[in-house]
Amino acid sequence: MTRQILVTAALPYANGPLHIGHLLEHIQTDIWVRYQRLAGNECTWVWADDAHGTPIMLKAQAEGTTPEALISQVKQSHEADIEDFLLSPNVFHTTHSAENKELAEMIYNRLNEAGHIVKRTIKQLFDEQENMFLPDRYVKGECPNCGTADQYGDNCEVCSATYDATELKNPISQVSGQPPVLKDSEQYFFALSKFTDMLKAWTTSGALQPEVANKLKEWLDTGLQDWDISRNAPYFGFEIPNAPGKYFYVWLDAPIGYIAAHKYLGDQNGFDFMETWKADSDHEVYHFIGKDIANFHCLFWPAMLENAGLRKPTGVFCHGFLTVDGAKMSKSRGTSITARTWLDHMSPEYLRYYFAAKLSSAVTDLNLNLDDFVTRVNADLVGKVVNIASRCAGFITKKFDGQLSETYPASERDHYDQMVSAQKVILDYYEQREFGKAMREIMLLAEQANTYINDAEPWVKIKNPELQTEVQEICTVGLNYFRVIMTFLSPVLPELAKKTEAFLNTELTLASLQQPLVSHGINKYKPMMMRVEDKQVQAVLEATKASSSDSGNAADGSGAKPTAIDLGLDPLMDTIQIDDFAKLDFRIAEIVDAQPVEGADKLLQLTLDIGFEQRNVFAGIKSAYSPADLVGRKTIMVANLAPRKMRFGLSEGMVMAAGPGGSDLYLLSPDDGAKPGMRVK
Ligand code: MSP
Ligand code: ZN
Repeated sequence: MTRQILVTAALPYANGPLHIGHLLEHIQTDIWVRYQRLAGNECTWVWADDAHGTPIMLKAQAEGTTPEALISQVKQSHEADIEDFLLSPNVFHTTHSAENKELAEMIYNRLNEAGHIVKRTIKQLFDEQENMFLPDRYVKGECPNCGTADQYGDNCEVCSATYDATELKNPISQVSGQPPVLKDSEQYFFALSKFTDMLKAWTTSGALQPEVANKLKEWLDTGLQDWDISRNAPYFGFEIPNAPGKYFYVWLDAPIGYIAAHKYLGDQNGFDFMETWKADSDHEVYHFIGKDIANFHCLFWPAMLENAGLRKPTGVFCHGFLTVDGAKMSKSRGTSITARTWLDHMSPEYLRYYFAAKLSSAVTDLNLNLDDFVTRVNADLVGKVVNIASRCAGFITKKFDGQLSETYPASERDHYDQMVSAQKVILDYYEQREFGKAMREIMLLAEQANTYINDAEPWVKIKNPELQTEVQEICTVGLNYFRVIMTFLSPVLPELAKKTEAFLNTELTLASLQQPLVSHGINKYKPMMMRVEDKQVQAVLEATKASSSDSGNAADGSGAKPTAIDLGLDPLMDTIQIDDFAKLDFRIAEIVDAQPVEGADKLLQLTLDIGFEQRNVFAGIKSAYSPADLVGRKTIMVANLAPRKMRFGLSEGMVMAAGPGGSDLYLLSPDDGAKPGMRVK
């Protein structure tokens, strides 16, 4: 039976260009979708831009345009990237659409009629100058826990405490620069807490990866809170029915955007999207998402669907985050690479293959190591795969008039059948999203094909007039291997697959592999893929660095000379006396262990050896360093800082790093030879 499969990738926000982090998800989704189609299943990928919310509204304001104009311009840029990265959604819609408004209202009304929407009055920060309620991220103030200044309204970057924006001390609106006031505000909540049991059952039903289910269990065990689904005007979104001045929170209508895109596609193509979304549908629905948005897709979304009388997803597939050379993507290092910058310098298929080779079904982060990238792409794609074709094609064209041999050599038939039947393993890996394993199996086949050609030595035999038929057969066998391998790789390398079809003058399908191609005319071989050069990678990094400084200047807009703060440098501090300095005990420390801290996005827990003892230190450097890269490294710590009790344990000192923060942060290191425990004077 043909499976009917609906796939989604997360809807990118329509406020900026796509970058290679997004593309990790998009390429993962595309490979799976193309594999399903290759396997003969009916697979539809519905997709859209996520066009609502405060950041988009404020960005449009800052650019002196309307949100509508902004989202339509960004949508065009996303569509161009999607096409050029060879992504194959059946539709790319927007959440700011008539279909989405209708469906969001329908789902909300159903939830409301079932008594699952409750109104509550809460106090919120209000900017009187801008006449707007302030979202958490648009207010800064002093952390209610540790007192650090300049912290956002949701959590503290220094002590990682989470709190309500109303708890900040001396809050300042980031929109107007004025202190906000507290104001009563009536909000609409979805009664999520009622569905804890249903969600406990669903999250452990096999729809989720085990590590995601475990993580959600922590939330479910502490009990879910009702979810505020409304926002006050001004807001760019849909107004809530019968609630003037109240808008759906962007995360309410964003996932509904999946259904809306599907409806739009159905309206155009004459099918009923509800066949997929009705409660008892036998179609399959899968969401590909990043680990940062799992709670929306695995808790809020299934609860909404179930209570609106619709079906829940068959599976939610979470992936980890992309790092580049072991660190979070960074503009200053040139690794925050946009899709377009990549395309300006390199083939999308290089990235598609590299991601495929490293992807698995796990939620772990994936590192793009740029040296490894160059080596891997050249060794595998150029050295192993395309090489098979280029070694065989010339003889067929020049000596045999483009004709493959009349029959397939009997002695090689078993091996051909074996290669074709490797699809059982390979297709299963694709199905399980174990793309790295699939790529390894395929590369083994490519190695076998190359060994066969090496041993058969057609370039020697071609000189012997009696062995001409044999050479034709050897090349026929080689090109048949190439055909099998490219069929298996076609979900990853659609462009190369297309070139292969043109060259071999045949369509790449699984069914046609049952018989090798013989007595068949092929076309003249044209080089199919170039080696990737280091200088292309350098060009991408340089272009990224250059564009990040451009946009820095553009954002300023005033033409004023940048100040120290604009350059990301802290202003100089007050002068101190030598005895003030003498109070500081700086020591060389060796990082003997580094671990992520559960529940703290920005912190790493470091174990520091300072010669005479070990210290436990929590450092806000996770955005810039991955733990494994730190172990064994020497740095400098403040050893006589009074221990501080944090939510996660006792922090006994501080490591020293320079930079504005986030991923733009640089741990200090001593020269070689410095030993743990040495005092810095
Ligand atoms: N608009 C929401 C999703 C709504 S879905 C109904 C959103 N948008 S996003 O643009 O911020 O992210 C889109 C997807 O890209 C998310 O799945 C996110 O996890 C993923 N990624 C964003 N940066 C990424 C990396 N650096 N690495 C891997 N995935 C990344 O969230
Ligand atoms: Zn704090």
